[in-house]
Amino acid sequence: MDIEKIRKDFPVVDDYIYFDSACLSLKPQPVIDAVQKYYSEFPVCEGKRSAHTLSTRLTKEIKKGRKSVKDLLNASEIDEIAFTKNTTEAINTVARGLPLKKGDKVLTTDKEHNSNLVPWIKMREKREIIYEQVSTDKDGQLDLEELKEKMDESVKIVSMVHTSNLDGTTTPASEVADIAHENDAYFMLDGAQSVPHKPVDVKDIGVDFLAFSVHKMLGPTGVGVLYGRKKLLEELDPLIYGGGGVRSTRYDEATLQDSPAKFEAGLQNFASLAAVKPAVDYIKEIGLENIEEHEIKLNTIATEELKEKVKIIGPEDPEKRSGIFNFQLEELGCHEITLLMDEENILLRGGKQCVHSWYSFHGLEGGNRASFYLYNTEEEVKKFVEVIRSLVF
Ligand SMILES: Cc1ncc(COP(=O)(O)O)c(C=O)c1O
Repeated sequence: MDIEKIRKDFPVVDDYIYFDSACLSLKPQPVIDAVQKYYSEFPVCEGKRSAHTLSTRLTKEIKKGRKSVKDLLNASEIDEIAFTKNTTEAINTVARGLPLKKGDKVLTTDKEHNSNLVPWIKMREKREIIYEQVSTDKDGQLDLEELKEKMDESVKIVSMVHTSNLDGTTTPASEVADIAHENDAYFMLDGAQSVPHKPVDVKDIGVDFLAFSVHKMLGPTGVGVLYGRKKLLEELDPLIYGGGGVRSTRYDEATLQDSPAKFEAGLQNFASLAAVKPAVDYIKEIGLENIEEHEIKLNTIATEELKEKVKIIGPEDPEKRSGIFNFQLEELGCHEITLLMDEENILLRGGKQCVHSWYSFHGLEGGNRASFYLYNTEEEVKKFVEVIRSLVF
């Protein structure tokens, strides 16, 4: 990986040490150009609604984006890729679109992002489903025995974070898929932190639904993906009704489009959708295996240099934490650390990183998360180490 060459494609990368890619990644020039091109060359609506020259052009770009995502995930069909606003919307679509009823059970891990926790809490309130969590140990590993014990015929879906934004650990997804399927339950993965950082093959894993955000993988803001097996998406009710999600209506009835159109009701974020393909192409060109390896290399430097002095959230072994280095200092609170680091131009995330439930359960105030990506360098990590050391020693 030629990091110096890569960095030339990212406009602000030299101005800061940007370690908050788990929240939102920086954007390379081809993605910025594609957004600009939409506004300057074909700033219209997609061809589902009108079929004139400009809308046809946009439709082609969106189709290319959808196909690039399909290929990235090794999905079977382009119709299995529905665009959403983000991971959150994709998970909510499944939570609210499945015909869950009183007494149906849903299982997650005990360290889910709010986006894979709150939808289920709300379904418990609204439809009286049973919602339970499966424990993870102090190294962040899922207790598969507990999962098996909690599986019974009432479980309708197992919905788990793939790679955790809290500690970077990765759920053994194929094993969980097998356990879910043996019990006739669906399996959904929250891939917000896996798809941008490592190869994810939906067929190899055997996952039924996968949610992730294109804006965390070099893409433009406001685009997420809901992957679902075709038959399941056909049966799933959309979150939002109307607009281009509809095939025909009478005053008293509506026929919805097939997937993915039925999930994309109303005018969409076209400028961003037109820039999905350049983002996916960029990632593919670099190679997800290389990205993963690079992040672990950076995480290894941070871990080796700081493990005696900071408390790392998750396992000590950086190989198990992807590009996530989430830590606490005895001497300083997380908000103080974020501000002090910011003064040094090092941009970290401090607080509960939307995993309030896990922090509250463990009685912890929060952590400071450095998340690495393909454009980060060893020098940046060394600078980060130096500043943390200056705060502690
Ligand atoms: C694991 C995980 N799930 C879900 C989300 C929510 O993503 P979005 O805000 O793009 O919906 C995030 C965002 O940080 C995440 O890290």
